[in-house]
Amino acid sequence: MIDEKEKMRQILSLGLELAQVRDVDILLERILSVARAFVNADAGSIYIREGETLKFSYTQNDTFQKQLAPGQKLIYSTFTVPINNASLAGYVANTGTMLNIPDVYELPDTVPYAFNRGYDELTRYRTQSVLTFPLKNNRGAVIGVLQLINACDPAGTVVPFAPEDEPFIMHFAGNAAIAIERAMMTRAMILRMISMAELRDPKETGAHVNRVAAYSIEIYERWARSRGVAESEITQNRDVLRMAAMLHDVGKVAIADAILKKPGRLDDAEYAVMKNHTWLGARLFSDTFSDFDQAAAAVALNHHERWDGNGYPGHVNPLNGEVLATGQGTPGKKGEEIPLFGRIVAIADVYDALSSRRAYKESWDEGRVLETLRQEAGRQFDPELIEAFFASFDTIRSIADRYPSA
Ligand code: C2E
Ligand code: SIN
Ligand code: SIN
Ligand code: SIN
Ligand code: FE
Ligand code: FE
Repeated sequence: MIDEKEKMRQILSLGLELAQVRDVDILLERILSVARAFVNADAGSIYIREGETLKFSYTQNDTFQKQLAPGQKLIYSTFTVPINNASLAGYVANTGTMLNIPDVYELPDTVPYAFNRGYDELTRYRTQSVLTFPLKNNRGAVIGVLQLINACDPAGTVVPFAPEDEPFIMHFAGNAAIAIERAMMTRAMILRMISMAELRDPKETGAHVNRVAAYSIEIYERWARSRGVAESEITQNRDVLRMAAMLHDVGKVAIADAILKKPGRLDDAEYAVMKNHTWLGARLFSDTFSDFDQAAAAVALNHHERWDGNGYPGHVNPLNGEVLATGQGTPGKKGEEIPLFGRIVAIADVYDALSSRRAYKESWDEGRVLETLRQEAGRQFDPELIEAFFASFDTIRSIADRYPSA
């Protein structure tokens, strides 16, 4: 049996750990895994408040998970429930109080809330004990609901949730709420920044950034698997990389329209100005320190470096673009000196640019694009990553259909 002090220590460190996670989806995954492990719950769900409804946003269920092949993910559909007393989750959001119910099919007639059997009927799961907590931010507003389902004893028999665990989960739910709110703000900020860039280049940027981000995580995942990178690290890096890749050209927002939207070829002076979009983008993230901000800065700064050292901007101060002395013997960074995420986005970006029509060029046919990428392995691009690109090319090709250019 774990003693109270040990439980307190655990719940504090788990709360601190949540503060490290940026992406909303990864965060929900972590919150539910940790909370379920703490009380040994077979299943659980997280609802996020959207106006006057709760959106069923994420779920886990060990009973169903065990029926799937290894590596396969549980498929579930999202739905919304009103914030009222017709469901346990709705009641908890409505009143801001937690509920600990030993068996939801044995509720007395006198209680003001009801158990919504719809989900059990749909999934043929038997919900029994349920612990439902409001996710309250530090202003006391309910931003969602954490629901833990079917506590199990060591033999796997469903038992009620222990009342002694309630304060720990309550404390954890508070940390979780603050982390979720912050992650949602981060995502909103990214979308604002992208739409700002889109204002400047409405014909192309939106679809281009989505494609480049999606290609990038396919390349990364293939590369990481071939290297035996831990699954948890892959999941985390995919999400960080996806957001960072979306922002690879965000520095173009600072480039004058006369250059950015020029219908023809750029002259040398114009191209020199255009190259500043790398460090101008990185500068936007230079005073921040999370994994995500660092990845976004690394991608913006390095996505036009070349494996052979002939790319740009090279070793520069991202605050002002000033070239720093390096002694590398090439104008740009070279080989693995270029951060991994920069090397990945370089491939995704050029693949997309060549495959697309631009104001200044026609699109190339696929054969010519792939031939170019193959030839540039070891020159413009990291050869190992080009291999990963071709290994996942079927998936990559299908992505273009999901994000067609306007
Ligand atoms: P972008 O259009 O997203 O292109 C990204 C990168 O794809 C380019 O980086 C380049 O490496 C590659 N790329 C695109 N089109 C071609 C092509 O026809 N041939 C070859 N070999 N590579 C190509 P780069 O050159 O550093 O350009 C960065 C950005 O500068 C481009 O982003 C685009 O916004 C702008 N840009 C570059 N050249 C021109 C130009 O001649 N006219 C105009 N209007 N913009 C240009
Ligand atoms: C509810 O909160 O009443 C629904 C519980 C569930 O979806 O299992
Ligand atoms: C990594 O986290 O694996 C690399 C990050 C980067 O190079 O930007
Ligand atoms: C080049 O990389 O050759 C110039 C950029 C372009 O063709 O768009
Ligand atoms: Fe760029
Ligand atoms: Fe680009």
